[in-house]
Amino acid sequence: MGETSAHEFKFLIVDEASRGSYVKVKDGPRGWIIAQVVEVTRSNVAYSISIIDENNSEARERVLGLARVIGVTTGGRLAMPTNPPRPGDPVLRADAPLIEMALGLSKGNLYIGLLEGHDLKVRLEADSFVQKHCSILAKTGSGKSYTAAVVLEELLERGVALLIIDPHGEYASMKQKNTKGDFAKYDVTPRGYDVTVYSPANKTTAPHADRFLRFNGKNLTARELSAMLPEDVTNSQRGVLYEAIKILASDGGTYELEDVIAQAEKDTSKAKWGLIGHLEALEELGIFSGKATELGELLQRGKASVIEMTGVPPDLQGMIVAKLLSDLFEARKRGLVNPGMVVVEEAHNYIPERGSGRAASTPVIRTIAAEGRKFGLGLLVISQRPARVDKNVISQCNTQIILRVTNPNDLRALSKGIEGMSSELEGDIKRLPPGTAMLVSNEIEHPVTVKIRPRKSRHGGVSTPIVGCERARAAAGAARGAKPGSSLVSGTKTVPDGGPKEKKEASGGFLRKILGK
Ligand SMILES: Nc1ncnc2c1ncn2[C@@H]1O[C@H](COP(=O)(O)OP(=O)(O)OP(=O)(O)O)[C@@H](O)[C@H]1O
Ligand SMILES: [Mg+2]
Repeated sequence: MGETSAHEFKFLIVDEASRGSYVKVKDGPRGWIIAQVVEVTRSNVAYSISIIDENNSEARERVLGLARVIGVTTGGRLAMPTNPPRPGDPVLRADAPLIEMALGLSKGNLYIGLLEGHDLKVRLEADSFVQKHCSILAKTGSGKSYTAAVVLEELLERGVALLIIDPHGEYASMKQKNTKGDFAKYDVTPRGYDVTVYSPANKTTAPHADRFLRFNGKNLTARELSAMLPEDVTNSQRGVLYEAIKILASDGGTYELEDVIAQAEKDTSKAKWGLIGHLEALEELGIFSGKATELGELLQRGKASVIEMTGVPPDLQGMIVAKLLSDLFEARKRGLVNPGMVVVEEAHNYIPERGSGRAASTPVIRTIAAEGRKFGLGLLVISQRPARVDKNVISQCNTQIILRVTNPNDLRALSKGIEGMSSELEGDIKRLPPGTAMLVSNEIEHPVTVKIRPRKSRHGGVSTPIVGCERARAAAGAARGAKPGSSLVSGTKTVPDGGPKEKKEASGGFLRKILGK
């Protein structure tokens, strides 16, 4: 309708074409112009301010679409259009093969969901996905961990080795089959995966861990230990460490972390105390005690090793990730371990942007982002605060999966860090419904909106109901004749401490008992 250009055109919608869907217009005898509907408007001249006329019986409603041109197909390839479509030409709904070809969706083998508005499978290319890194960014509760697990399931099925840094213990549930979801619509068969849960802590803090993560604590070099220390440890504190280890090493015998601490204590400077605090925290955790974990064991083809950080203080988590990933990257460079992908959940804690925190793990994760591709070590970073994650790392990610983001700082960070991000896309990201993602990747021609498929394995990141629990406790108190306010303490006994899922079920069961059902 009206004026058209090689970039966009308006058209009259007579059937249906929702925002985000794809349409086509014939481009001479050779091919099709493919375009995406970016806006749909409804108008009626009878209700237009300038022509208010109560006697006008010819009032007609029109639905207009604004479509942005993606390209034109010529000889099975997509090119940039040079001619605008002709006004008056029919606009048709684009068919699956044309969309796949135009968006570059047909090449991949990692099935992550369906293209919004068209029941078309969106697939990413596994090799490039792993080698060129990915980030999953969105506000809390919008489905980051769920989406990450969908991608990880696909990677495991392609035989990729995974190492997952899991601060909240959400990934152990990948062992089990999912029972909730529209599996038929998405063509998904539930199943569990080969997952081993490692804890850097001990049996008391991580009773359900399959194994414990341990480092070799004998004859640690000053460089090794220094790389584990948080970034804010001063040069004079590091100096105390180098001095202590120099003395121990000159003795020629075997020394362990406790010997380093004892030696550092003999230092006369005040700087020693900050250093000793960090070393003692490591010693207490026991990460250097017992038999060291084999690095090769952590990257096995088609298997996931989950490093579960629950119960480990945040600064120690950074120190552990620093050592683990440095050792792994060195081993990978020398071909001593399998290639694979490292997944960093809650990445703002392990690679904080300058000014929003410090972590010992920042340098090594930056190195993997910059050089991992050459050595077959990929990176998947996940965060709820894009503005607080190191931009150096985000900008190295070739694939971005973005779910709903509303915080203006985070949206700005996305615009800055991601190529091809427009203000229009920002608007779309603010409006994304849960479980729907915007996929931006160098492998696909254009950002696409994807409804993420149901997980095959069980999701572990279940929210704990707070209001529901309070009600159950209040009801429990009332049933015993106590004031609702006084029931909180005894009420807590009715909720076992076994994790979010158990809490939900326990409170539900308790209510049923009270209500006699
Ligand atoms: N694609 C999806 N299909 C079905 N349910 C989903 C989907 N994505 C998310 N959910 C549901 O939304 C909830 C929140 O998802 P998830 O735990 O992945 O959020 P998150 O962004 O990782 O949150 P947080 O920032 O707290 O880690 C989950 O309990 C899950 O059941
Ligand atoms: Mg999460």
